[in-house]
Amino acid sequence: MLIKNVVITLIFCSMAFAHVGEHASIHDTVHNIKQRLRQKIFDINRLQTMSATELHSHLTQEERKILGSEHLSFVTNTALDVYVAKDIRFQDGPFWLQERNFQKTSWTFATNNTTYQVWKKTFPRGWVGLGVNSLSGDNKHYFVVLCAKDKKTNIKLDKVYPGQHNEGIVQIGESPYVDFPDKLTQIPQELQGKMLLRTMQERSNVAKLAGIFTDTNYPASIHPDQIVLTWGADPRTTQSVQWRTSKEVNSGMVRYREQSATQWEFLQAKTKKLETPETVNDPVINRHSAHLTNLKPGTTYQYSVGNGNSDNWSKTFEFTTAPQNPQSFSFVYMGDAQNGLDTWGKLLANSFQAQPNAAFFVMAGDLVNKGAERFDWDHFFHSAGDIFSQRPIVPAIGNHEMHGGYPTLYREMFKLPRNGPDTTWIDPERAYSFEYGNACFIVLDTNTLIDFQTKWLEERLKNTKALWKFVIYHHPAYSPRPSINNTYISAVWGPIFDKYHVDVALQGHDHSYMRTHPLKNHKKAPTANEGTIYVVSVSGTKFYSQNPYKNGAVSFTNVSTYQLLDIQIEGRKLIYKAYDINGVLKDEFVIEK
Ligand SMILES: [Fe+2]
Repeated sequence: MLIKNVVITLIFCSMAFAHVGEHASIHDTVHNIKQRLRQKIFDINRLQTMSATELHSHLTQEERKILGSEHLSFVTNTALDVYVAKDIRFQDGPFWLQERNFQKTSWTFATNNTTYQVWKKTFPRGWVGLGVNSLSGDNKHYFVVLCAKDKKTNIKLDKVYPGQHNEGIVQIGESPYVDFPDKLTQIPQELQGKMLLRTMQERSNVAKLAGIFTDTNYPASIHPDQIVLTWGADPRTTQSVQWRTSKEVNSGMVRYREQSATQWEFLQAKTKKLETPETVNDPVINRHSAHLTNLKPGTTYQYSVGNGNSDNWSKTFEFTTAPQNPQSFSFVYMGDAQNGLDTWGKLLANSFQAQPNAAFFVMAGDLVNKGAERFDWDHFFHSAGDIFSQRPIVPAIGNHEMHGGYPTLYREMFKLPRNGPDTTWIDPERAYSFEYGNACFIVLDTNTLIDFQTKWLEERLKNTKALWKFVIYHHPAYSPRPSINNTYISAVWGPIFDKYHVDVALQGHDHSYMRTHPLKNHKKAPTANEGTIYVVSVSGTKFYSQNPYKNGAVSFTNVSTYQLLDIQIEGRKLIYKAYDINGVLKDEFVIEK
């Protein structure tokens, strides 16, 4: 079954296409609706409490058409009966079922906790487009069953959008979702054995309009804040800086100098307006980003940001470029922050205080809970204090950054290396890599096409001369709850990690702590020099339970941790330690090469 899914997904992924037609995408359509609602309805309480039914009355015909047909699409080789199984808790949604003459059947599906009502429509050969789940963002996503009108013809799907959707068979125990562990417990006899098109539960809020209009507790001002360091290229010679201001400040400047110098150098930033109509008290801000180049390796610089006027400079911070030649260094890795950002901020502050020499902070996705809503990002940066102004953040994209169907705000927040996979398929900065000292870091995006990152991943691992290799991604190949291991990731990337010997995979998503034994070919390897250690951790305050796992070396839950990975040149050694918020050591291991 695993191999079958791999093959099917490979086919589907290779056929992934963006939205069809010349008109606005779902994302742009939703953005335009938000903007119009803000302009038309000034009463925030009313906006915030509008029901999905009332929201519908504000949609134009064109918007209803796009939202009702371009969320999920494919091209079929033969005429089909298309069955949409929708969460029975929806009174009348998805809205497009009736509008587009789908017929309600008497059939139902069930999983452990949800009942689905089945609607049907016949489509001719060609393009089939289905709409969004709801404007409320509530309830389970619908899934789809396909039956060929001509029973002798095998269904072949082409241009499946989004490409992550994959194919299964309607049977008890089958999951109707690509990304959620629900399993079918009851199926209509008539649909037994038919083709299932698995959908993505996390796309249920792509068109969420209800209850999104809210204030940010941390609005922008004319004074720069959210000053964040990232790397957009080689950490030895470059440094990216980004920050925000209110819209009144429409230009940005970085001044910087070596620690020992007296004269500042200046670099004009790129300034971009960021409009988030759902942020009621601060809907438009400016974000500024600058990419410093030709820096000296292994050198500490001072910098501050402003708009170039002498009275507008931020506090002066320092950053240090990566050394030219490998030296011992350490970095911090954290799992999901997402919930409990205030507590996460304390964990981050404690980690920085305890590990002031850590060169950078890796975050393995789900930095925030509501990735499409700016108030949550403002809370994240507020909780981080000045730490990312002093040490670069190395982020990966989690499913919560994907709210709204695309990591729009994440991509506005972080300038990252544009050295990832072919951008025909994977947008720049979603996956990237860099080298620091004698270590290679490869950040992957498990929310998007796995297969289209694989060749790049392999080339990157093949070509690096680094002694240490780390991969960073959100959805764990090996999870503290093995029943939800992402077997597709371990099947496709695992052999590559094995072949080129990745030392440690830094993962997130499962809201507890787990470190595996070194694994090779999905089995315990004798030593860490022969297998990859997979870690899941959580830095926020949402915790999941665990199941016993034979490959788990250390597991615990209900504890937020940060991990220090200390790479020592002497002895070719990696010393790994996991600490809780009070600095109590929770796990450790050493790898020597
Ligand atoms: Fe997650």
